[in-house]
Amino acid sequence: MEEITFTRDTVLSDIHLHIPHKRHLMVRLNAVGQPVFQTQFKILWENNVLDAASSYQESEQEKNKDSKKTQELGSEDGSLFTKHKKTHMQVIEVLLDDDGDLEVERRPQSHSGKDESQTCSRNVVCPTILTIGSIEQTEEEEPVYSTRDVVKIEHTMATTLEDVGKQIWRGAFVLADYILWQRDIFRGCTVLELGAGTGFTSIIMATVAKTVYCTDVGEDLLEMCERNVVLNRCLTDATGGQVKVKELDWLNQFCKDTEASYSWTEDDIADLYDQTTVILAADVFYDEVLTNALFETLSRITHNLSNRCTIYLSVERRFNFTIRHMDITCDAYNHFRNCLNSFENDSNGKLKWTAMEIEPVFPQFFSYEREHLELWKIISAPLT
Ligand SMILES: C[S@@+](CC[C@H](N)C(=O)[O-])C[C@H]1O[C@@H](n2cnc3c(N)ncnc32)[C@H](O)[C@@H]1O
Repeated sequence: MEEITFTRDTVLSDIHLHIPHKRHLMVRLNAVGQPVFQTQFKILWENNVLDAASSYQESEQEKNKDSKKTQELGSEDGSLFTKHKKTHMQVIEVLLDDDGDLEVERRPQSHSGKDESQTCSRNVVCPTILTIGSIEQTEEEEPVYSTRDVVKIEHTMATTLEDVGKQIWRGAFVLADYILWQRDIFRGCTVLELGAGTGFTSIIMATVAKTVYCTDVGEDLLEMCERNVVLNRCLTDATGGQVKVKELDWLNQFCKDTEASYSWTEDDIADLYDQTTVILAADVFYDEVLTNALFETLSRITHNLSNRCTIYLSVERRFNFTIRHMDITCDAYNHFRNCLNSFENDSNGKLKWTAMEIEPVFPQFFSYEREHLELWKIISAPLT
């Protein structure tokens, strides 16, 4: 088995990077020869269903009390954030040596036999290929969860930017958390997800919604997404939720090519326009041209909907050092905020949009880091 290495233009999602000490289970090669892995994401029901209501109320009630503690810790946020920050401070203490210097954990030795300075050992992923007869290995690697407790996702590990949808991004998790937390809002709805990637958020949405149009672009990505939908049928069948995987390119709109596997029929489009009340997009703001295209798509689709609709967008603030600014900037995020602002102030259509940020203090149903993630809710009213 050849080693999988990163090249300069590949990216790896934190979701896959921070699954510590866990070997990644490679299940197949996809149609374009990329190794496909399967990861099980445990749904933390026990932490949330029982405690969520009380913890959220407590967090609201204790905001005043906590703001005092928060000031002591120098943070500006509420109780959950304070607790969270405290935990991190404890972790940092553990990582300091006697003189207070940071103890940096070394990456494992490269398997390539090359000198560490020649290849970055983080580049190497050691996949375990699942074949018939390797069931014991699966059980050893992954705890066995009940089907209702786990989302199984096939994905690739490191990709070029054009294939980022084959990985799962933290924005998908924050949106999924919000959906599970606010189940009643979404129950029985028809939903459109844009840039759905592996389909993670659409699958979670289909555990409460009636129909989810799960859309993205590219045959091999959509095929992977469809496989994930099938893999997780046990989660969605219980409530009768249906995920329909379709091609929707923000630069080309609905794919109606009858030869294409994920094309739209006129009936699909009519149903989408007649029924949709919720639109989702997770972590789709990383390129200015695509961000512009996404907002144009939102505007075009929402103006054709029969009902009022609410849009939920998750976005990660990514900081980069740029030579142009000789500073750390957040260009893609800033562009998103400018587009959001223009979307709100656009008076050409028949709708008036209002955007509000949802504080990320709702419970986590998945294990990931929420730092630098934002969730936005955009509501519409007729423009008078
Ligand atoms: C960073 S990934 C996020 C995927 C998924 N929402 C998640 O959070 O895991 C961005 C997604 O936008 C999709 N995308 C990029 N350009 C697109 C376009 N022109 N039309 C539709 N989707 C596009 C990508 O294919 C990819 O799935």
